[in-house]
Amino acid sequence: LDSRIKLNNNTSIPCLGYGTYKIKDLDEAYNSVKSALDAGYRHIDTAAFYENEKPVGRAINDYINSHDLKREDIFVTSKAWKTELGYEKTLKAFEKTMEEIELDYLDLYLVHWPASYAFDDDWENTNRATWKAMTEIYKSGRVRAIGVSNFLTHHLDTIIDMEVMPAVNQIEINPGFLQKETVDYCQNKGILVEAWSPLGRGKSLNHTVLEKLAAKYGKTVAQIILRWEMQHDIVPLPKSTTPSRIVENSKVFDFELSAEDMAVIDAIEPYGNSGHGPDDK
Ligand code: A2P
Repeated sequence: LDSRIKLNNNTSIPCLGYGTYKIKDLDEAYNSVKSALDAGYRHIDTAAFYENEKPVGRAINDYINSHDLKREDIFVTSKAWKTELGYEKTLKAFEKTMEEIELDYLDLYLVHWPASYAFDDDWENTNRATWKAMTEIYKSGRVRAIGVSNFLTHHLDTIIDMEVMPAVNQIEINPGFLQKETVDYCQNKGILVEAWSPLGRGKSLNHTVLEKLAAKYGKTVAQIILRWEMQHDIVPLPKSTTPSRIVENSKVFDFELSAEDMAVIDAIEPYGNSGHGPDDK
């Protein structure tokens, strides 16, 4: 669970993370992060938009203090929300996050959504101004790596020639929704891809093809999906507030899908994705 992948700036990231989207109840957020750390997850993903940075940060600090762990043992990500794009706002959003989360540094800070032509006539420059602020934050040493989220290739193109290359792009990926064009673009440039809603918010779990594979490997459908993503060199961030599922989703290191079965999952038609793209009004 602690095995890591190198990022393009020579830091490294645990190859499975725990996602905290929609866990707004403060006690639930605190307890879920604690359950994830108990299960052995060493990578926690939050965001200002999730409104849980405070309990997530508190759970991490308490866990470090009550176990034989150091801050470096846990990889922590947060994100600047899409209302905070642009130079000044991004810098402010970061300060707010650091106040909430109460950690000395973040391992990864992401631009949560790109500026899009659908909402902003000057979207390309807005993305560049945001990225300039991200670069300054990175250089300050208070984040170990910077990246983006929900960027498609045309959004990435707006910042790719700038001083610092994004280390990560976190996008929606689930069976039927591999977003291959974006994944290929990122992987060719050494940008690590992370998957949000890796289980399609639970909607990906009752597909007959996946159920058959689960029976074949003696694993659950959730484990098959997460393994499929990991074998594509994608870091999945499954969310659950159910302790037994948090554990279940971590047991993906003791089997391997064959190339044939990978292709079977690749060929699944879209069915469980959210339908939320960065350019959709
Ligand atoms: P819950 O939090 O009630 O356990 P995603 O990560 O794709 O957004 O999916 C999260 C959703 O999938 C949540 O509703 C979560 O429910 C559910 N879920 C997460 N892991 C599992 C699992 N192993 N089996 C069944 N449902 C799961």
